[in-house]
Amino acid sequence: MNGERTSAALRLLQLRYGIIGESPLIKEAIEQLLQVAPTDLTVLITGETGTGKDVFARAIHGLSPRRKAPFISVNCGAIPETLLESELFGHEKGAFTGAIEQRKGFFEVADGGTIFLDEIGEMPIGTQVKLLRVLETGEFTRLGSTKVIKVDVRIIAATNRDLAYEVRQGTFREDLYYRLNAVHLHLPPLRKRPEDIPLLVEYYATKVAERIGATYEGIEDDALAVLQQHSWRGNVRELRNLVETLVTIGHGRRITADDVRRYLQRDELPEPTRALVLHSAAQREGQPLDLALVYHTLLELRAEMSAVRAAIATLAERMSQLQTAIPAKREDDDVFSRDPDDFRLDEMERRLIVAALKRFNGSRRSAARALGISERTLYRKLHEYNLTEMF
Ligand SMILES: Nc1ncnc2c1ncn2[C@@H]1O[C@H](COP(=O)(O)OP(=O)(O)O)[C@@H](O)[C@H]1O
Ligand SMILES: [Mg+2]
Repeated sequence: MNGERTSAALRLLQLRYGIIGESPLIKEAIEQLLQVAPTDLTVLITGETGTGKDVFARAIHGLSPRRKAPFISVNCGAIPETLLESELFGHEKGAFTGAIEQRKGFFEVADGGTIFLDEIGEMPIGTQVKLLRVLETGEFTRLGSTKVIKVDVRIIAATNRDLAYEVRQGTFREDLYYRLNAVHLHLPPLRKRPEDIPLLVEYYATKVAERIGATYEGIEDDALAVLQQHSWRGNVRELRNLVETLVTIGHGRRITADDVRRYLQRDELPEPTRALVLHSAAQREGQPLDLALVYHTLLELRAEMSAVRAAIATLAERMSQLQTAIPAKREDDDVFSRDPDDFRLDEMERRLIVAALKRFNGSRRSAARALGISERTLYRKLHEYNLTEMF
């Protein structure tokens, strides 16, 4: 793409869809967006939470010939498994208990437009089969009916999961994966494009200031430097929230590094190193390792289970080196043990689940949130580990 066209496209995306960025990584994603938007191709958007999957999906629809037809966004992780199919494909009266009247599904409502299947990694296998059929033939049936319905719907799917991994785990169908993955748009995490941070700060600060009737007086260089060194696990969403807080609290006053430090979330999602930093800090001060702290840090991991596994592997390795420093385990905080044989990942996962459920008095919803997995995934794991009778 030539420079002029790129900058015109960047302006359009900013004005219409609030997509900001001039880093090579975001430009690459925008270029892909512009290429696929006018086609009917299925697009898979991946990226960590807050990287812009929603805004990109909307922009793809908005820049396509379907823009006047509906854009329907379905969060596959938020709709209970039993309802998802009837929401997507509709049902006839009496198709199941509670189906008191006939209902059109999203695919019928979106005819001529686009369906955005968010959190596709959460879609149950049975529904995946039906989705694959729609992708291949445009056809499906309502629940409780044999009449084949044909629609013209473009599909955009998004996930923050590693679908290739899910395929290996057997929780995502390989055929559907290949079908979706034909056009893959990956959105980079914010920490990989720190050069966009000043632009984003300016954009959101000016917007909020306007909204609250203040004048935005800018940001100190060292404050920007702090922002550019932050790891932004919540990506643009986290940055946007921070900027909105700072500008609102200071009523547009110039932002200093101290302001930033004060409000930058300290309970940021932990990386394996964070727990270890906590540990070595405690060591330096001659205190015993605070096992509960490490454990809470782990519990607050909102990353996917795969990230948890990687973190645990690193921790386990370090922990085994540091075993002598670990105080006797407490019953409830029984995540780590002295026994090196207990560092099996599945065993760790089981224990984290038990610990989370105990901590939240058996509330699956809170436990799932703390573990960074969906309730549905937690149910599945409870079965996998034969924990259903316990909780
Ligand atoms: N490139 C971007 N430029 C400006 N704002 C963005 C960008 N990407 C994301 N955002 C903002 O960040 C927030 C999260 O974006 P969203 O699309 O919901 O992320 P995701 O769906 O990946 O979690 C939204 O407020 C969105 O407007
Ligand atoms: Mg989203």
